Amino acid sequence: MAQMLVPGRLPRHIAVIMDGNGRWARKRLLPRAAGHRAGVRPVREVIEACCRLGIEALTLYAFSVENWKRPRAEIQTLWVLLRRYLRQELPELKANGVRFQTIGRVDALPQAVCDDIDNAIVETSANTGMRLNVALNYSGRSEIVDVVNGLLRQSHRREAPMQVDEAAISDQLYTADAGDPDLLIRTSGEYRVSNFLLWQIAYSEIWVTDRYWPDFRTTDLLESILAYQKRSRRFGGLPDEAPSRQLVAASK
Ligand code: IPE
Ligand code: IPE
Ligand code: MG
Repeated sequence: MAQMLVPGRLPRHIAVIMDGNGRWARKRLLPRAAGHRAGVRPVREVIEACCRLGIEALTLYAFSVENWKRPRAEIQTLWVLLRRYLRQELPELKANGVRFQTIGRVDALPQAVCDDIDNAIVETSANTGMRLNVALNYSGRSEIVDVVNGLLRQSHRREAPMQVDEAAISDQLYTADAGDPDLLIRTSGEYRVSNFLLWQIAYSEIWVTDRYWPDFRTTDLLESILAYQKRSRRFGGLPDEAPSRQLVAASK
């Protein structure tokens, strides 16, 4: 399937809502934690495949602000898995030239998790390959609140004018360096964005699969990119071929 992709038309930035770990486990009569454990393999696969394809940025939704509503034990499992992942995968991330970053209010995470995150950020900061953003304690609305507060602070210091425009907001987003996602993938068949990258997905192409996240494989990623390449991105304008047709018509 990879051979069928058009190399010049790859998405530059892919974002993924990794959903369905709990249902994957329930289907197997396993505890939810088993679903989260099984969700590590596709994370590894997707990162590796995106590196190989030369994708510039990958943003993975790992924990939302709203996920604090879950039982303490489940949240604890997620931190244990994240710490283990960071420790085990750091050499591979470094070898692949990945630059690891997080988006979200990460300071609210347990100190030990923050320490491992900081270590991974520092260890990969000089890498020039794919930018990997992991969204932790993230919500699109809280990101916009942080942006507005940042602009207000700048304004108080008279570093910025009182009026803002779209560029001023985009520049302050957690993902400012990576640009907006071209392709947004959601697993587990849910047709909602669950507070993910609300500003950034204004014109992202959305691809939903019924597959639960632990079952997501490289072939699914390739299928989503193939589907993306067949989309006609118009950004409110006309399809690519339309202007030339209009010119021909006008010149007759
Ligand atoms: C996604 O899977 C992982 C996180 C939100 C942390 P879920 O845990 O939401 O799985 P479902 O949606 O209950 O199946
Ligand atoms: C979205 O999944 C958040 C992450 C994947 C981290 P949720 O399971 O939290 O979303 P809802 O509750 O189904 O909308
Ligand atoms: Mg879910």
